[in-house]
Amino acid sequence: TTTIEVGMLGLGTVGSGVVERLSRAAVKIEQTQGLRFHLATVAVNHLNAPRTVSLPLGTQLTDSIDAVVTDPQIQLVIEVMGTLTTAKRAITTALKHGKSVVTANKDLIATAGETLVRLAQREGCDLFYEASVAGGIPILRTLTDSYATDTVQSVAGIINGTANYVLSAMTRTGQTYEQALRAAQRAGYAEADPTNDVGGLDATYKLIILSRFAFGQSLTVEQVRPVGITAVTTSQCQLAATSGWQLKLLAQAQRHGNQLYCRVAPVAVGDGRALSRVNGVQNGVAISSQAIGESLYTGPGAGSTATANSVLNDVIAAGQRLRLGTRGPAFNRNAGQLGVKRFDQ
Ligand code: HSE
Repeated sequence: TTTIEVGMLGLGTVGSGVVERLSRAAVKIEQTQGLRFHLATVAVNHLNAPRTVSLPLGTQLTDSIDAVVTDPQIQLVIEVMGTLTTAKRAITTALKHGKSVVTANKDLIATAGETLVRLAQREGCDLFYEASVAGGIPILRTLTDSYATDTVQSVAGIINGTANYVLSAMTRTGQTYEQALRAAQRAGYAEADPTNDVGGLDATYKLIILSRFAFGQSLTVEQVRPVGITAVTTSQCQLAATSGWQLKLLAQAQRHGNQLYCRVAPVAVGDGRALSRVNGVQNGVAISSQAIGESLYTGPGAGSTATANSVLNDVIAAGQRLRLGTRGPAFNRNAGQLGVKRFDQ
């Protein structure tokens, strides 16, 4: 068994889930992977905040991010703080100190992922972020592995659970937008501030990451210019449903020759399409490709356990590569040769 020294940044919903799963799965990981992950240090904002999760004996709690990312003992850093500037600085420092990094930070990976991947490559370190898109669905790995020799023609995703919950509730139970949003917040998927969920920015971040893997092309928020669901009414949802359509916040990218057309907007999806049946907080990603044809990947898009499980899979992958000494980012297919247009241009 190889022991890997781990440091973690953040102990919120995802972080607590990671701690729990790490200890619950420790024996299995050792038996099946030959790895033992020792959680050495966890950095938090407030040392005295109330906690619901138990830390293993011997794990240190600190309020200093630097104490984790510059610690020469630590080989692997799990970033689950979910901020932008602080997380970027932390991951940059960790990579410069030769550590493998696993993150669930979609905002950061969407906006600075290419810079960080290049840095990781220069430093010869791993940077994995499967949990940043569609929490419980291993969609980045699937695109990397199963589509390695295939050509993706289009990606259409319901990749914000909050917006999907709101639209599903308005359609099915006749709730108003405000009632449905409050219920979605209670269900625990919405961001602390749900502006990005309902405004389409969260789905845009995930589409940006998906497009790098599907098309080798990076998009920007300015290119996508998302339209959210804040103006959608209950009667629109219900009228659409009686005529054979389900209103969905769809994130789409489609290749035509050398152009990539993209959009994030509420779309009336025909109820004959499988995506129309992805309801509530579920996520769904439909991929159309030359070799495989049409595939739909569905599952939980968030939630502590599903997201933590995804983080842990990356931790195991990074741990194996540390053990074998074969590091360097595996997930990078960004060639960036396509022109980008919005669907309506
Ligand atoms: N707020 C996000 C959602 C969480 O509702 O899908 C997962 O990224």
